[in-house]
Amino acid sequence: KKLNTHFPKHFLWGGATAANQIEGAFDKDGKGLSTSDMAAYKDPYASGKVDNFTFNVTSKELEFYENHPEKTLFPKRWGIDFYHNYKEDIALFAEMGFNVFRLSISWVRIFPTGLESAPNEAGLAFYDKVFDECAKYGIEPLVTMSHYEMPIELTKKYNGWVNRALVQIFEKYAKVILERYKHKVKYWITFNEMNMNLNSLYTGAGVLADLVDNPLQAAYQASHHQFLASALAVKAARDIIPDAKVGCMINHIESYAKTTKPEDQLQSVKSNQLNMFYPDVQARGEYPSYITRYFADQNIDIQMQDEDEAILREGKVDYVAISYYMSHVTEAREDAAKLAGSFDSPIKNEYLKLTQWDWPIDATGLRIALIKLYDRYELPLFVAENGLGAKDVLSSDDNIHDDYRIDYLKQHIAAVKDAIEDGVDVFGYTVWGCIDLISCGTSQMSKRYGFIYVDQDDQGKGSLKRIPKDSFYWYKKVIASNGEDL
Ligand code: BG6
Repeated sequence: KKLNTHFPKHFLWGGATAANQIEGAFDKDGKGLSTSDMAAYKDPYASGKVDNFTFNVTSKELEFYENHPEKTLFPKRWGIDFYHNYKEDIALFAEMGFNVFRLSISWVRIFPTGLESAPNEAGLAFYDKVFDECAKYGIEPLVTMSHYEMPIELTKKYNGWVNRALVQIFEKYAKVILERYKHKVKYWITFNEMNMNLNSLYTGAGVLADLVDNPLQAAYQASHHQFLASALAVKAARDIIPDAKVGCMINHIESYAKTTKPEDQLQSVKSNQLNMFYPDVQARGEYPSYITRYFADQNIDIQMQDEDEAILREGKVDYVAISYYMSHVTEAREDAAKLAGSFDSPIKNEYLKLTQWDWPIDATGLRIALIKLYDRYELPLFVAENGLGAKDVLSSDDNIHDDYRIDYLKQHIAAVKDAIEDGVDVFGYTVWGCIDLISCGTSQMSKRYGFIYVDQDDQGKGSLKRIPKDSFYWYKKVIASNGEDL
Protein backbone atom coordinates (compact mmCIF):
# COMPACT_ATOMS: atom_id res chain seq x y z
CA LYS A 1 0.00 0.00 0.00
CA LYS A 2 1.06 3.60 -0.69
CA LEU A 3 2.14 5.88 2.17
CA ASN A 4 -0.43 8.66 2.67
CA THR A 5 1.36 11.83 3.65
CA HIS A 6 -1.58 14.12 2.89
CA PHE A 7 -5.27 14.32 3.67
CA PRO A 8 -7.19 12.44 0.98
CA LYS A 9 -8.36 14.48 -1.99
CA HIS A 10 -12.05 14.47 -1.14
CA PHE A 11 -11.63 14.81 2.61
CA LEU A 12 -14.73 16.24 4.29
CA TRP A 13 -13.93 19.46 6.19
CA GLY A 14 -16.55 21.30 8.17
CA GLY A 15 -18.29 21.84 11.45
CA ALA A 16 -20.86 20.17 13.68
CA THR A 17 -23.96 21.26 15.55
CA ALA A 18 -27.12 19.81 17.08
CA ALA A 19 -30.69 21.03 16.59
CA ASN A 20 -31.40 21.55 20.28
CA GLN A 21 -28.31 23.72 20.73
CA ILE A 22 -28.79 26.04 17.75
CA GLU A 23 -32.33 26.17 16.35
CA GLY A 24 -34.39 27.99 18.96
CA ALA A 25 -37.98 28.58 17.72
CA PHE A 26 -38.96 25.87 20.19
CA ASP A 27 -42.70 26.38 19.73
CA LYS A 28 -42.85 27.35 16.06
CA ASP A 29 -44.59 25.61 13.16
CA GLY A 30 -46.08 22.75 15.09
CA LYS A 31 -42.95 21.61 16.92
CA GLY A 32 -43.54 19.60 20.08
CA LEU A 33 -41.57 19.84 23.31
CA SER A 34 -38.44 17.75 23.61
CA THR A 35 -36.39 16.53 26.56
CA SER A 36 -33.84 19.28 25.84
CA ASP A 37 -36.58 21.93 25.98
CA MET A 38 -36.98 20.81 29.59
CA ALA A 39 -33.28 21.03 30.47
CA ALA A 40 -33.14 24.16 32.59
CA TYR A 41 -30.17 26.39 33.23
CA LYS A 42 -28.54 25.58 36.58
CA ASP A 43 -25.54 27.55 37.74
CA PRO A 44 -22.59 25.27 36.91
CA TYR A 45 -20.43 27.00 39.53
CA ALA A 46 -22.91 26.57 42.38
CA SER A 47 -20.64 24.13 44.23
CA GLY A 48 -17.60 26.38 43.84
CA LYS A 49 -16.11 24.02 41.23
CA VAL A 50 -17.34 23.76 37.65
CA ASP A 51 -20.00 21.10 37.13
CA ASN A 52 -20.00 19.91 33.50
CA PHE A 53 -23.28 18.05 33.91
CA THR A 54 -26.07 20.28 35.02
CA PHE A 55 -28.35 18.74 32.41
CA ASN A 56 -29.92 15.89 34.34
CA VAL A 57 -33.63 16.21 35.09
CA THR A 58 -35.55 14.36 37.81
CA SER A 59 -39.27 13.58 37.79
CA LYS A 60 -39.86 16.29 40.41
CA GLU A 61 -37.96 18.88 38.39
CA LEU A 62 -39.86 17.95 35.25
CA GLU A 63 -43.15 18.43 37.06
CA PHE A 64 -41.98 21.80 38.36
CA TYR A 65 -40.77 22.98 34.93
CA GLU A 66 -44.07 21.99 33.36
CA ASN A 67 -46.10 23.86 35.95
CA HIS A 68 -43.85 26.91 36.37
CA PRO A 69 -41.93 27.47 33.13
CA GLU A 70 -41.72 31.19 33.89
CA LYS A 71 -39.56 30.54 36.97
CA THR A 72 -36.73 28.95 35.01
CA LEU A 73 -34.48 29.67 32.04
CA PHE A 74 -34.39 27.12 29.23
CA PRO A 75 -31.52 28.17 26.92
CA LYS A 76 -32.04 25.22 24.59
CA ARG A 77 -35.42 26.70 23.73
CA TRP A 78 -33.81 29.78 22.21
CA GLY A 79 -30.49 28.35 20.92
CA ILE A 80 -28.91 30.88 18.58
CA ASP A 81 -32.05 31.14 16.46
CA PHE A 82 -30.57 29.17 13.58
CA TYR A 83 -34.19 28.51 12.63
CA HIS A 84 -34.40 32.06 11.32
CA ASN A 85 -30.71 32.68 10.57
CA TYR A 86 -29.82 29.48 8.73
CA LYS A 87 -29.16 31.23 5.42
CA GLU A 88 -26.68 33.67 6.88
CA ASP A 89 -25.01 30.92 8.96
CA ILE A 90 -24.63 28.49 6.07
CA ALA A 91 -23.23 31.32 3.91
CA LEU A 92 -20.56 31.87 6.57
CA PHE A 93 -19.77 28.12 6.62
CA ALA A 94 -19.44 28.25 2.84
CA GLU A 95 -17.11 31.24 3.12
CA MET A 96 -14.80 29.11 5.28
CA GLY A 97 -14.90 26.47 2.56
CA PHE A 98 -16.92 23.76 4.37
CA ASN A 99 -17.80 20.81 2.17
CA VAL A 100 -19.69 19.11 5.02
CA PHE A 101 -22.03 20.40 7.72
CA ARG A 102 -23.07 18.08 10.53
CA LEU A 103 -26.46 18.93 11.99
CA SER A 104 -29.27 16.99 13.60
CA ILE A 105 -32.96 16.81 12.89
CA SER A 106 -35.19 17.63 15.80
CA TRP A 107 -37.47 14.59 16.17
CA VAL A 108 -40.22 16.78 17.67
CA ARG A 109 -40.38 19.01 14.61
CA ILE A 110 -41.30 15.92 12.61
CA PHE A 111 -43.38 14.04 15.19
CA PRO A 112 -44.32 16.50 17.98
CA THR A 113 -45.11 13.79 20.53
CA GLY A 114 -43.56 10.85 18.71
CA LEU A 115 -46.96 9.16 18.66
CA GLU A 116 -48.63 10.76 15.62
CA SER A 117 -49.16 8.55 12.62
CA ALA A 118 -48.44 11.32 10.09
CA PRO A 119 -45.47 13.70 10.22
CA ASN A 120 -45.64 17.46 10.63
CA GLU A 121 -45.19 18.92 7.14
CA ALA A 122 -43.89 22.29 8.40
CA GLY A 123 -41.09 20.55 10.28
CA LEU A 124 -40.10 18.52 7.25
CA ALA A 125 -40.17 21.64 5.08
CA PHE A 126 -37.72 23.45 7.36
CA TYR A 127 -34.99 20.85 6.82
CA ASP A 128 -35.69 20.83 3.07
CA LYS A 129 -34.81 24.51 3.07
CA VAL A 130 -31.67 23.92 5.13
CA PHE A 131 -30.44 21.10 2.87
CA ASP A 132 -31.21 23.14 -0.25
CA GLU A 133 -29.19 25.99 1.16
CA CYS A 134 -26.26 23.62 1.79
CA ALA A 135 -26.55 22.29 -1.76
CA LYS A 136 -26.25 25.82 -3.13
CA TYR A 137 -22.68 25.88 -1.84
CA GLY A 138 -21.78 22.25 -2.49
CA ILE A 139 -21.92 21.41 1.24
CA GLU A 140 -22.83 17.79 2.08
CA PRO A 141 -25.16 17.60 5.07
CA LEU A 142 -24.24 14.90 7.58
CA VAL A 143 -27.36 14.29 9.62
CA THR A 144 -27.68 12.90 13.13
CA MET A 145 -31.14 11.40 13.57
CA SER A 146 -31.12 11.74 17.34
CA HIS A 147 -28.80 14.15 19.09
CA TYR A 148 -29.68 14.37 22.78
CA GLU A 149 -33.35 15.16 22.38
CA MET A 150 -36.58 13.28 21.92
CA PRO A 151 -40.28 13.94 22.48
CA ILE A 152 -40.89 14.68 26.16
CA GLU A 153 -44.18 12.81 25.75
CA LEU A 154 -42.17 9.60 25.34
CA THR A 155 -40.44 10.29 28.64
CA LYS A 156 -43.76 10.91 30.36
CA LYS A 157 -45.55 7.94 28.82
CA TYR A 158 -42.78 5.33 28.69
CA ASN A 159 -39.89 6.76 30.73
CA GLY A 160 -37.92 6.94 27.51
CA TRP A 161 -35.73 4.28 25.96
CA VAL A 162 -35.98 1.77 28.82
CA ASN A 163 -39.25 0.87 27.15
CA ARG A 164 -39.06 -1.28 24.03
CA ALA A 165 -42.02 0.58 22.51
CA LEU A 166 -39.58 3.30 21.46
CA VAL A 167 -37.88 1.04 18.92
CA GLN A 168 -40.85 1.10 16.54
CA ILE A 169 -41.62 4.73 17.27
CA PHE A 170 -38.09 5.68 16.27
CA GLU A 171 -38.13 3.40 13.22
CA LYS A 172 -41.21 5.24 11.97
CA TYR A 173 -39.42 8.60 12.39
CA ALA A 174 -36.22 7.31 10.73
CA LYS A 175 -38.11 5.98 7.72
CA VAL A 176 -39.95 9.26 7.25
CA ILE A 177 -36.78 11.38 7.22
CA LEU A 178 -34.84 8.90 5.08
CA GLU A 179 -37.64 8.86 2.52
CA ARG A 180 -38.13 12.62 2.53
CA TYR A 181 -34.44 13.53 2.20
CA LYS A 182 -33.25 10.60 0.10
CA HIS A 183 -32.06 12.88 -2.70
CA LYS A 184 -30.50 15.43 -0.37
CA VAL A 185 -28.69 13.55 2.40
CA LYS A 186 -26.22 10.70 1.93
CA TYR A 187 -24.31 10.74 5.25
CA TRP A 188 -26.16 9.80 8.43
CA ILE A 189 -25.44 9.04 12.08
CA THR A 190 -28.23 7.29 13.97
CA PHE A 191 -27.58 8.29 17.61
CA ASN A 192 -25.17 10.84 18.97
CA GLU A 193 -22.62 9.51 21.48
CA MET A 194 -24.56 6.46 22.62
CA ASN A 195 -22.08 5.72 25.39
CA MET A 196 -23.11 8.88 27.18
CA ASN A 197 -26.22 7.02 28.33
CA LEU A 198 -23.91 5.88 31.12
CA ASN A 199 -23.46 9.50 32.21
CA SER A 200 -26.87 10.97 31.70
CA LEU A 201 -29.83 8.72 31.26
CA TYR A 202 -32.05 11.73 30.70
CA THR A 203 -29.99 13.40 28.00
CA GLY A 204 -29.15 10.32 25.98
CA ALA A 205 -32.23 8.19 26.57
CA GLY A 206 -35.01 10.39 27.96
CA VAL A 207 -35.09 8.34 31.15
CA LEU A 208 -35.91 9.90 34.53
CA ALA A 209 -33.30 8.10 36.57
CA ASP A 210 -35.10 8.57 39.89
CA LEU A 211 -37.90 6.36 38.58
CA VAL A 212 -35.72 3.30 37.92
CA ASP A 213 -34.35 0.86 40.50
CA ASN A 214 -30.91 0.40 39.02
CA PRO A 215 -29.69 3.25 36.77
CA LEU A 216 -26.80 1.22 35.32
CA GLN A 217 -29.14 -1.61 34.35
CA ALA A 218 -31.52 0.98 32.87
CA ALA A 219 -28.69 2.59 30.89
CA TYR A 220 -27.78 -0.72 29.25
CA GLN A 221 -31.40 -1.70 28.67
CA ALA A 222 -32.08 1.68 27.04
CA SER A 223 -28.91 1.24 24.99
CA HIS A 224 -30.10 -2.18 23.84
CA HIS A 225 -33.28 -0.62 22.53
CA GLN A 226 -31.27 2.10 20.80
CA PHE A 227 -29.03 -0.57 19.23
CA LEU A 228 -32.13 -2.17 17.75
CA ALA A 229 -33.56 1.15 16.57
CA SER A 230 -30.21 2.11 15.05
CA ALA A 231 -29.89 -1.24 13.26
CA LEU A 232 -33.43 -0.93 11.87
CA ALA A 233 -32.64 2.60 10.67
CA VAL A 234 -29.47 1.33 8.95
CA LYS A 235 -31.54 -1.34 7.23
CA ALA A 236 -34.16 1.18 6.14
CA ALA A 237 -31.44 3.51 4.83
CA ARG A 238 -30.06 0.72 2.64
CA ASP A 239 -33.52 0.12 1.14
CA ILE A 240 -34.37 3.78 0.65
CA ILE A 241 -30.98 5.34 -0.25
CA PRO A 242 -28.75 2.78 -1.97
CA ASP A 243 -25.56 4.87 -1.66
CA ALA A 244 -26.25 6.05 1.92
CA LYS A 245 -23.42 5.90 4.44
CA VAL A 246 -24.72 5.36 7.95
CA GLY A 247 -22.50 5.54 10.99
CA CYS A 248 -22.59 4.97 14.73
CA MET A 249 -20.99 7.37 17.14
CA ILE A 250 -19.38 7.42 20.57
CA ASN A 251 -17.67 9.96 22.68
CA HIS A 252 -14.25 8.36 22.60
CA ILE A 253 -12.19 8.78 25.74
CA GLU A 254 -8.89 6.98 25.59
CA SER A 255 -7.94 5.53 29.00
CA TYR A 256 -4.24 5.41 29.81
CA ALA A 257 -2.92 3.24 32.63
CA LYS A 258 -1.57 5.31 35.51
CA THR A 259 1.56 3.18 35.88
CA THR A 260 3.31 0.24 34.22
CA LYS A 261 1.92 -2.00 36.99
CA PRO A 262 0.28 -4.91 35.13
CA GLU A 263 -2.97 -4.48 37.07
CA ASP A 264 -3.21 -0.84 35.95
CA GLN A 265 -2.52 -1.92 32.38
CA LEU A 266 -5.27 -4.52 32.63
CA GLN A 267 -7.70 -1.89 33.92
CA SER A 268 -6.84 0.35 30.96
CA VAL A 269 -7.71 -2.51 28.59
CA LYS A 270 -11.03 -3.00 30.40
CA SER A 271 -11.89 0.70 30.49
CA ASN A 272 -11.22 1.04 26.78
CA GLN A 273 -13.36 -2.04 26.09
CA LEU A 274 -16.26 -0.41 27.89
CA ASN A 275 -15.85 2.77 25.86
CA MET A 276 -15.80 0.79 22.62
CA PHE A 277 -18.65 -1.51 23.61
CA TYR A 278 -21.06 0.61 21.57
CA PRO A 279 -19.25 0.49 18.21
CA ASP A 280 -18.38 -3.13 18.99
CA VAL A 281 -22.10 -3.94 18.81
CA GLN A 282 -22.94 -1.57 15.97
CA ALA A 283 -19.97 -2.31 13.71
CA ARG A 284 -19.72 -6.05 14.35
CA GLY A 285 -23.43 -6.70 14.68
CA GLU A 286 -23.33 -8.63 17.95
CA TYR A 287 -22.57 -8.18 21.64
CA PRO A 288 -18.85 -8.69 22.38
CA SER A 289 -17.87 -11.62 24.61
CA TYR A 290 -16.24 -9.48 27.33
CA ILE A 291 -19.53 -7.76 28.20
CA THR A 292 -21.03 -10.97 29.60
CA ARG A 293 -18.66 -10.94 32.52
CA TYR A 294 -19.10 -7.21 33.07
CA PHE A 295 -22.89 -7.62 33.15
CA ALA A 296 -22.57 -10.54 35.59
CA ASP A 297 -20.25 -8.54 37.88
CA GLN A 298 -22.59 -5.55 37.83
CA ASN A 299 -25.82 -7.56 38.19
CA ILE A 300 -27.09 -6.40 34.85
CA ASP A 301 -29.63 -8.52 33.04
CA ILE A 302 -30.73 -7.23 29.63
CA GLN A 303 -34.16 -8.19 28.35
CA MET A 304 -33.82 -9.36 24.75
CA GLN A 305 -36.14 -11.03 22.29
CA ASP A 306 -35.44 -13.82 19.82
CA GLU A 307 -35.30 -11.59 16.78
CA ASP A 308 -32.81 -9.14 18.29
CA GLU A 309 -29.68 -11.01 17.22
CA ALA A 310 -30.77 -10.96 13.59
CA ILE A 311 -31.73 -7.28 13.76
CA LEU A 312 -28.29 -6.35 15.08
CA ARG A 313 -26.53 -8.54 12.52
CA GLU A 314 -28.44 -7.02 9.63
CA GLY A 315 -27.99 -3.41 10.75
CA LYS A 316 -24.22 -3.05 10.87
CA VAL A 317 -22.94 0.48 10.23
CA ASP A 318 -20.79 1.65 7.31
CA TYR A 319 -18.44 3.80 9.35
CA VAL A 320 -17.56 4.69 12.92
CA ALA A 321 -17.79 8.31 14.06
CA ILE A 322 -16.35 9.68 17.26
CA SER A 323 -16.33 12.87 19.18
CA TYR A 324 -13.00 13.45 20.81
CA TYR A 325 -12.27 15.95 23.54
CA MET A 326 -9.95 14.32 26.07
CA SER A 327 -8.17 11.28 27.44
CA HIS A 328 -8.41 9.77 30.92
CA VAL A 329 -6.11 8.01 33.33
CA THR A 330 -7.17 4.81 35.01
CA GLU A 331 -5.76 2.46 37.62
CA ALA A 332 -6.73 -0.78 39.36
CA ARG A 333 -9.03 0.39 42.13
CA GLU A 334 -12.35 -0.67 43.51
CA ASP A 335 -14.47 1.87 41.64
CA ALA A 336 -12.55 1.46 38.35
CA ALA A 337 -15.43 -0.28 36.55
CA LYS A 338 -17.79 2.51 37.54
CA LEU A 339 -15.34 5.20 36.46
CA ALA A 340 -14.72 3.47 33.15
CA GLY A 341 -17.90 4.73 31.52
CA SER A 342 -17.74 8.13 33.14
CA PHE A 343 -16.98 11.47 31.56
CA ASP A 344 -15.13 12.83 34.59
CA SER A 345 -12.03 11.19 35.97
CA PRO A 346 -10.68 11.80 39.46
CA ILE A 347 -7.16 10.82 38.34
CA LYS A 348 -5.20 13.66 36.80
CA ASN A 349 -2.66 13.34 34.02
CA GLU A 350 0.35 15.42 35.05
CA TYR A 351 1.42 15.86 31.42
CA LEU A 352 -1.76 17.55 30.24
CA LYS A 353 -3.13 21.06 30.53
CA LEU A 354 -6.82 21.62 31.23
CA THR A 355 -9.41 23.76 29.46
CA GLN A 356 -11.32 26.41 31.43
CA TRP A 357 -13.88 23.63 32.08
CA ASP A 358 -11.18 21.25 33.36
CA TRP A 359 -11.11 18.99 30.28
CA PRO A 360 -7.61 17.55 29.68
CA ILE A 361 -6.18 18.62 26.29
CA ASP A 362 -4.50 15.72 24.51
CA ALA A 363 -4.07 15.79 20.74
CA THR A 364 -1.91 12.65 20.73
CA GLY A 365 -4.83 10.84 22.36
CA LEU A 366 -6.83 11.51 19.19
CA ARG A 367 -4.13 9.88 17.07
CA ILE A 368 -4.03 6.90 19.44
CA ALA A 369 -7.82 6.62 19.32
CA LEU A 370 -7.96 6.66 15.53
CA ILE A 371 -5.23 4.04 15.25
CA LYS A 372 -6.94 1.74 17.77
CA LEU A 373 -10.42 2.11 16.27
CA TYR A 374 -9.15 1.39 12.79
CA ASP A 375 -7.16 -1.62 14.00
CA ARG A 376 -10.33 -2.88 15.65
CA TYR A 377 -12.95 -2.36 12.93
CA GLU A 378 -11.10 -1.65 9.68
CA LEU A 379 -13.96 0.66 8.81
CA PRO A 380 -13.72 4.29 7.66
CA LEU A 381 -13.62 6.72 10.58
CA PHE A 382 -15.12 10.17 10.92
CA VAL A 383 -14.18 12.73 13.58
CA ALA A 384 -17.65 14.13 14.11
CA GLU A 385 -16.73 16.44 16.98
CA ASN A 386 -13.59 18.01 18.34
CA GLY A 387 -13.06 21.52 19.63
CA LEU A 388 -12.30 23.87 22.48
CA GLY A 389 -14.91 25.41 24.75
CA ALA A 390 -13.55 28.75 25.98
CA LYS A 391 -14.64 32.12 27.31
CA ASP A 392 -14.09 34.39 24.33
CA VAL A 393 -13.77 38.10 24.94
CA LEU A 394 -14.81 40.68 22.39
CA SER A 395 -11.88 43.07 21.83
CA SER A 396 -12.28 46.83 21.60
CA ASP A 397 -12.25 46.57 17.79
CA ASP A 398 -15.16 44.08 17.95
CA ASN A 399 -13.05 41.02 17.13
CA ILE A 400 -12.25 37.76 18.85
CA HIS A 401 -8.55 36.97 18.90
CA ASP A 402 -8.81 33.26 19.72
CA ASP A 403 -5.25 32.10 19.17
CA TYR A 404 -5.82 29.50 21.96
CA ARG A 405 -8.51 27.87 19.80
CA ILE A 406 -6.30 27.94 16.72
CA ASP A 407 -3.55 26.32 18.74
CA TYR A 408 -5.88 23.57 20.00
CA LEU A 409 -7.30 22.80 16.56
CA LYS A 410 -3.89 22.92 14.90
CA GLN A 411 -2.61 20.20 17.22
CA HIS A 412 -5.68 18.02 16.75
CA ILE A 413 -5.79 18.35 12.97
CA ALA A 414 -2.08 17.51 12.86
CA ALA A 415 -2.89 14.40 14.93
CA VAL A 416 -5.54 13.36 12.38
CA LYS A 417 -3.02 13.86 9.58
CA ASP A 418 -0.47 11.74 11.46
CA ALA A 419 -3.08 9.01 11.94
CA ILE A 420 -3.75 9.05 8.19
CA GLU A 421 -0.03 8.63 7.63
CA ASP A 422 -0.12 5.76 10.14
CA GLY A 423 -2.48 4.04 7.71
CA VAL A 424 -5.86 4.96 9.21
CA ASP A 425 -8.79 5.65 6.89
CA VAL A 426 -10.30 8.94 8.16
CA PHE A 427 -12.70 10.57 5.72
CA GLY A 428 -13.81 13.72 7.52
CA TYR A 429 -13.42 16.10 10.42
CA THR A 430 -16.08 18.45 11.75
CA VAL A 431 -15.24 20.97 14.45
CA TRP A 432 -17.78 21.00 17.24
CA GLY A 433 -19.86 24.11 17.59
CA CYS A 434 -18.49 25.73 14.44
CA ILE A 435 -20.74 28.63 15.35
CA ASP A 436 -21.16 29.52 19.06
CA LEU A 437 -24.11 27.63 20.51
CA ILE A 438 -25.70 26.58 23.79
CA SER A 439 -23.53 24.15 25.73
CA CYS A 440 -24.96 20.69 26.04
CA GLY A 441 -23.61 19.96 29.52
CA THR A 442 -24.04 23.33 31.20
CA SER A 443 -26.56 25.18 29.00
CA GLN A 444 -24.16 28.13 28.99
CA MET A 445 -23.77 30.41 26.00
CA SER A 446 -20.49 31.63 27.46
CA LYS A 447 -18.86 28.24 26.79
CA ARG A 448 -17.98 29.00 23.20
CA TYR A 449 -16.55 26.66 20.56
CA GLY A 450 -17.22 28.58 17.36
CA PHE A 451 -15.30 30.11 14.49
CA ILE A 452 -18.22 32.52 14.52
CA TYR A 453 -19.06 34.57 17.59
CA VAL A 454 -22.76 34.99 18.39
CA ASP A 455 -23.70 38.03 20.45
CA GLN A 456 -25.81 36.48 23.20
CA ASP A 457 -25.27 35.86 26.92
CA ASP A 458 -26.25 33.05 29.28
CA GLN A 459 -29.60 34.71 29.94
CA GLY A 460 -30.42 34.83 26.23
CA LYS A 461 -29.82 38.56 25.88
CA GLY A 462 -27.93 40.05 22.94
CA SER A 463 -28.29 41.11 19.31
CA LEU A 464 -27.51 37.61 17.92
CA LYS A 465 -25.08 39.32 15.57
CA ARG A 466 -22.57 36.90 13.99
CA ILE A 467 -18.88 37.94 14.04
CA PRO A 468 -16.12 35.80 12.45
CA LYS A 469 -13.27 35.18 14.93
CA ASP A 470 -9.56 34.95 14.03
CA SER A 471 -9.99 31.16 13.91
CA PHE A 472 -12.54 31.63 11.10
CA TYR A 473 -9.84 32.94 8.76
CA TRP A 474 -7.36 30.35 9.98
CA TYR A 475 -9.74 27.42 9.31
CA LYS A 476 -10.53 28.84 5.87
CA LYS A 477 -6.83 28.60 5.07
CA VAL A 478 -6.63 25.07 6.47
CA ILE A 479 -9.50 23.91 4.27
CA ALA A 480 -8.20 25.72 1.17
CA SER A 481 -4.88 23.91 1.56
CA ASN A 482 -6.60 20.58 2.33
CA GLY A 483 -4.97 20.53 5.76
CA GLU A 484 -1.43 21.35 4.63
CA ASP A 485 -1.30 24.92 5.93
CA LEU A 486 -1.94 24.56 9.65
C1 BG6 B 1 -20.60 16.33 22.93
C2 BG6 B 1 -22.04 16.52 22.48
O1 BG6 B 1 -20.57 15.44 23.98
O2 BG6 B 1 -19.94 17.40 23.47
C3 BG6 B 1 -22.40 17.95 22.12
O3 BG6 B 1 -22.35 15.67 21.41
C4 BG6 B 1 -21.77 18.88 23.13
O4 BG6 B 1 -23.79 18.05 22.06
C5 BG6 B 1 -20.27 18.72 23.10
O5 BG6 B 1 -22.14 20.21 23.01
C6 BG6 B 1 -19.53 19.65 24.03
O6 BG6 B 1 -20.06 19.56 25.32
P1 BG6 B 1 -20.51 20.86 26.11
O7 BG6 B 1 -21.07 20.37 27.37
O8 BG6 B 1 -19.27 21.64 26.27
O9 BG6 B 1 -21.49 21.54 25.25
